[in-house]
Formats: sequence, C-alpha cells, structure tokens
Amino acid sequence: MPNPFLNVFSLIAVVLNRVLAYLDRALHYASGYILYFLFKGLKPQTHTRPYKTRNGRCYSPAVVVTGASEGIGFATAVHLANKGYTVFATAPSDAELSKIRQAAAEHADRNRSKGGTIHPAIMDVLSPDSIAHCVGHIEDVLGGDPDRPLVGVVNNAGYCMISPMELTPESDVRRIFELDFWAYISVIRAFLPAVKRNKGRFINVGSYGGYFNPPLWAPYCALKAAVEGMTRAWRLELLPFGVGTSISFFSRLPGSQGREGVTLGCEKNN
Ligand SMILES: *[C@@H]1O[C@H](CO)[C@@H](O)[C@H](O)[C@H]1NC(C)=O
Repeated sequence: MPNPFLNVFSLIAVVLNRVLAYLDRALHYASGYILYFLFKGLKPQTHTRPYKTRNGRCYSPAVVVTGASEGIGFATAVHLANKGYTVFATAPSDAELSKIRQAAAEHADRNRSKGGTIHPAIMDVLSPDSIAHCVGHIEDVLGGDPDRPLVGVVNNAGYCMISPMELTPESDVRRIFELDFWAYISVIRAFLPAVKRNKGRFINVGSYGGYFNPPLWAPYCALKAAVEGMTRAWRLELLPFGVGTSISFFSRLPGSQGREGVTLGCEKNN
C-alpha cells in the first residue's frame, strides 16, 4: 500500500543523499588542495603527457588500463588513445578483448592523426603469472623507446555487487575483495619498478561507495573504503619517488555511452 508520507520522505532522503555525497566530495578535493599547498605534492610534470616534438616526432607515453573490455575501462582506453597515449588495454581472456580489438583497429584506421595507439593485451589480474607475463610483454613492445615510457597504470578491473550483507555468503564477499581490492595491490606491485623509473602515476578507480554507504552496498562500500584508504596512504609513501597515486570517481567519461561503465559493471554479476 503506497504511503504518501513515506514517498515524500524517501524523496527528501534521496535528494539529501545526493547533496551530502557532493558536499563530501567537495570536501575531499578541498582538503587535497590544502594538503598539496601545505606539504607540496608532485610538481606539475610534462613527461606524463603526449606532445609533438619540434622535429615532428610524437611523444606518446604508455598507460596500462585493466579491465578494458567494457565500460569505464574501455572508455578510458579509447579516450587516452585519442589524447595521444600509447594504451595497453587489458582483459583476462582473448574473447573479452574482441570489443577493444575492434576499437583499436578503428582508431588505427580513422583516428591515427591523434597520435595514440591501442594495444589489446591479455592480463588476468587474479593470476600473478599472468600479470608478470603482461609486464614482460609490455616491456617488449615498448622496447625502451624514450618516446614511449610507461608512465601510468589505471587499476579499473572489477565488478560491483549489490546484496544484503546478512544473506551474502562470505565466499562472495571474499571473491569481490580478491578482484576489486587485492588485485589492485598485485598490479601496482608488478608495475611499480617501471613506473618508479619513469616517475609515473597510478590511478585506482574508486567509488562514491568508499565514503557514502547506502543499504545493500555493504561489501562494495567496504572494499572501496579499503581501496581509498590504501591509496591515500600509499600515495604518500610513493611521493618521495616522484610517483603519483590517486583515486578516481567516474560516473561519466567522454566516449562512454552515458553511464555505461557503471551499469554494465553492475549488471554483469547480478
Ligand atoms: C575516433 O575519434 C572520434 C572523434 O574524436 C571519437 O568520438 C571516437 O571515439 C574515436 N574512436 C576511436 C576508436 O578512437
């Protein structure tokens, strides 16, 4: 039986939730800038950005994007390539690379003038062997080219689970932590030597869920809070090496179809 008071109340709650989430986010940004101002972060650097050199060469630094078969990862890979980056777009199996392979061909065909390239590559972020193999493969492809240093890794591979905590088997909670939290660490560790050498960046894809906690999102909120805390602390440990680490919140990216990333990620496993 619909209750008009409840409806109004829930509408107010929804609006208030949004306002609070944005306020919280603004606070995070403001505190970030204040900390940067007080304690100095990384100096702005140009070597992490693509450009055309005077003699017409393209400086096209390399970035790895995990989970690039769909959604946010796919959109990020295409977007970076169009910005002029050399992009390694990874997915756990050959079959899952088909969409990004198509985009890579289309990019090479029609968007070559933008300078970047897309290299689909297999990497199962849950397998240390597969990660190590991919690191080696990327090093081989880049071949120490000074115009294509590896300067970034986008930790994106993951999925979303919406489920009441009481009814969610512990194994399911552990499983989502494996991919959305532990694999982030494995990937960073594996690429750390190269990224340190090139004073690059790690970007961990976070979520509003890291600090805004609606019902049914408990496992996801827990792991995103873990990712957020880890990123903030690890970032400070890496700053002395000239390595930046940041956490990103995407709801919409240029090149993605509306909220493709978010909805596809959620639909896949539910
Ligand atoms: C090619 O460029 C267009 C226009 O900038 C862009 O919308 C499209 O996503 C690009 N496609 C690929 C595969 O890079």
